[in-house]
Amino acid sequence: MSSPRDFVLEDLFKFNHIVLDPLVEVYSLPFLLPKILEYPELVLATDAPDDRLVGFILGTRIEDSTEHIGDGKDLSWSHGHVSALAVAHNYRNLGLATRLLSTLRDMMDRQKDLYMDLFVREKNKNAIRLYESLGYVKYRWLPQFYANDHGYDMRLPLSRDVDRISLEGILINKLYSFGSMLYYLFMLYLFGLKDILVYGIGRRLE
Ligand SMILES: CC(C)(COP(=O)(O)OP(=O)(O)OC[C@H]1O[C@@H](n2cnc3c(N)ncnc32)[C@H](O)[C@@H]1OP(=O)(O)O)[C@@H](O)C(=O)NCCC(=O)NCCS
Repeated sequence: MSSPRDFVLEDLFKFNHIVLDPLVEVYSLPFLLPKILEYPELVLATDAPDDRLVGFILGTRIEDSTEHIGDGKDLSWSHGHVSALAVAHNYRNLGLATRLLSTLRDMMDRQKDLYMDLFVREKNKNAIRLYESLGYVKYRWLPQFYANDHGYDMRLPLSRDVDRISLEGILINKLYSFGSMLYYLFMLYLFGLKDILVYGIGRRLE
């Protein structure tokens, strides 16, 4: 299998068979194009031996701080973000996503990004397992982040983040997530109960 290569605009006409997957968010050209044009070097593709496009990753960079100080130290930092990742059905479990993610990580590491992050559906267990196997941790739970699912913000500290400051607050996030989950369950219970009181048990069972 070939190594990841730069994604080119022509690939946009070849990747429907990869992105038309319920676990890949629907991305429109107005969403994709500015990202591809802003950091083209962070968008990678993988081809099968017959040159068919079978995997892609859309990386971007987010400037978190542009604070500089004059004595040679640089307090500015940015982080890398994985906006989309997909591998064609017939080419899964071959390590292609691992390779795309690792290549992107090495590039972001070289460019001194502090950490990488991404958002993933709570139900997307395969992807979460893959990210965890590469060192990503669940940084915070995102209730109702997707129209029909909760999500996680997952983070991977890079070499520049020696003190792992990108993971600061993770304990508070966990407590907050736990509280949000309890609140969510309570509301579910409350509205479920309201349905029963309003429509009656019989109609609910119909
Ligand atoms: C999630 C997704 C990108 C993973 O792609 P992939 O190329 O199958 O991922 P990998 O092959 O790198 O890793 C997946 C598994 O294969 C295993 N693997 C890696 N290399 C392997 C190899 N050479 N042979 C066999 N298995 C291998 C990995 O250990 C991993 O196993 P695990 O799940 O038991 O931990 C793919 O399933 C996909 O496109 N899903 C739909 C879109 C999606 O969910 N995108 C993520 C949105 S956040």
